[in-house]
Amino acid sequence: MRCLISAGPTREWIDPVRFISNPSSGKMGYALAKAAKDLKMEVSLISGPVNLPNPQGIHLVRIETALEMQEAMESHFEENDLIIMCAAVCDHRPSVRYEMKLRKDEFPDRIIFKRNPDILKILGSKKKKNQVLVGFAAETADILNSAQNKLKAKNLDWIVANDVSKNDIGFSSDINEVTLISADGLQKQIPSNKKAKIAKEILDSIYPTCLEKVH
Ligand code: CTP
Repeated sequence: MRCLISAGPTREWIDPVRFISNPSSGKMGYALAKAAKDLKMEVSLISGPVNLPNPQGIHLVRIETALEMQEAMESHFEENDLIIMCAAVCDHRPSVRYEMKLRKDEFPDRIIFKRNPDILKILGSKKKKNQVLVGFAAETADILNSAQNKLKAKNLDWIVANDVSKNDIGFSSDINEVTLISADGLQKQIPSNKKAKIAKEILDSIYPTCLEKVH
């Protein structure tokens, strides 16, 4: 079984020395990649900039921007059976990327943003019957409802609902706590634990769907 995972943040550059981004550490996506490898899957990991060692035995592709992530995910999509979009993709990028460093006196008072593509939605629209597509939902309110809406809107098989309002779990922490929701209406709460354990539970829970769909 072949598995494609995205991890980490994206960087959206203003000029060569400034960007906007988010606090994603990549730990959850890297833990998922290892858990998939432990299940004997062949794993490709598309990673934004993170401070984590290169995982062993995993095909690693490094990208920076949302547009680069889109290109990498789309080009690997077809050959994979299980696709997990764990990256914290920036929804917007500055409409202008200056080629030269802006001096402080030249820096604009306002920056205009453009919407980045919704990579997961694009993948959902291309999904084949034998592919399993999993998304994450980073939420601060109305967590389960919002996650369910994203599951439908993006044509996913599973979504991992993540409460990112708590400081001790999620984003850069080693700990996470999630609820897994399937397109068939299954709901499974995975209580607070190290990301490695959460990743193993996520993979173990979705593995039967993979076996069913892929073979
Ligand atoms: N995602 C994506 N491309 C984007 C934004 C998000 O592929 N431009 C993916 C994320 O990797 C995640 C899922 O979509 O798997 C949900 O991301 P989230 O940030 O929770 O929600 P959004 O779809 O961006 O919606 P909103 O910001 O309105 O909550």
